[in-house]
Amino acid sequence: MTTITKINLGKNGPLVSKLGLGCMRMSPIWGGPVNDENESIATIQAALDNGINFLNTGDFYGSGHNELLVGKAIKGRRDDAFISVKFGAIFYNNQWIGLDLRPIAIKNFINYSLVRLGIDTIDLYQPCRLDNSVPVEDVIGTIADLIKEGKVRHLGVSEITADQLRKANDVYPVTALEIGYSLADRQIENDLLPTAKELGIGVVAFANTAEGLLTGEMKAPLPAGDYHNHFSRFQGDNLIKNLEKVDVLKQMATAKGYTPTQLAIAWVNAQGDHVMPLVSMSKRSRLPENTAAMQHQFTADELSTLDKHFAQGAILGGTYLQR
Ligand SMILES: NC(=O)c1ccc[n+]([C@@H]2O[C@H](COP(=O)([O-])OP(=O)(O)OC[C@H]3O[C@@H](n4cnc5c(N)ncnc54)[C@H](OP(=O)(O)O)[C@@H]3O)[C@@H](O)[C@H]2O)c1
Repeated sequence: MTTITKINLGKNGPLVSKLGLGCMRMSPIWGGPVNDENESIATIQAALDNGINFLNTGDFYGSGHNELLVGKAIKGRRDDAFISVKFGAIFYNNQWIGLDLRPIAIKNFINYSLVRLGIDTIDLYQPCRLDNSVPVEDVIGTIADLIKEGKVRHLGVSEITADQLRKANDVYPVTALEIGYSLADRQIENDLLPTAKELGIGVVAFANTAEGLLTGEMKAPLPAGDYHNHFSRFQGDNLIKNLEKVDVLKQMATAKGYTPTQLAIAWVNAQGDHVMPLVSMSKRSRLPENTAAMQHQFTADELSTLDKHFAQGAILGGTYLQR
């Protein structure tokens, strides 16, 4: 399998793989069946064997199920893995019902995470969102305290604005920004990405396939009961027009002997040395394809074709990543 290079996460930050493994879909975050746990654990271990050390989880992914899974996968090989954990989202009956960012809650959350993961220190700890319920200074200050205590190594943030990023970084140096980014969702290029670059903050970019849209495997209309139907991007005419855009990616991929998913990952990878594609993979069979995507180089012409067809606003309708 392709060797994955290592990068510093942020300015002088920790050494991590340029490709990250997203573990979220190994657990039933929005309800639904649990994936094959043995296969999920084998996938994490195969990723580690192949130099993908960045593992992403959250304490609310499957109400702790995901952390338990990651804990089982890294047992006996803690040093091979870089563990990134999000906290703060409160789910009830598979519904997101709010955020809890109170310092007292964070100090409670982390102890449970450490036990479930079976480790003493979390490498990157991050609020999954920020809101106005608790001052940014208090949320970030609490993580700074946890760093002093040795329970956390680095501070991360997720899905925030450029202003919030500056504010957080003023309280304590932010190592990484986790953010949805793909050919289909480029709004962050206006403000947030330049801010992260200016501040020397690593970018952990998820949803590279735009929730499957860019895999080229979707057909309109989607089956009833598919969760994508909740979002306007995947409904009616929007989906038909969006899939016409995806055809451009499909044709380019076919001509080059790649899959659309590989080009979608490669495009995110091409956005800078400080940008890490964070990709969900729940089965080992995904690894060769997705790691090979990291070798792909676009020509300038190909990049400008993609720029033209996937300009901001080209993909119609929204997803849960409303900005
Ligand atoms: N900070 C946040 O707010 C936030 C939000 C969402 C996600 N995340 C993190 O980011 C990670 C990635 O996000 P994501 O799951 O939304 O996006 P993604 O990586 O684009 O994955 C979407 C889907 O693509 C599938 N896939 C992977 N490789 C494929 C391939 N070669 N061909 C066809 N399909 C392929 C995956 O399926 P399988 O699982 O079946 O392999 C997954 O269901 C998550 O695991 C999570 O850790 C963070």
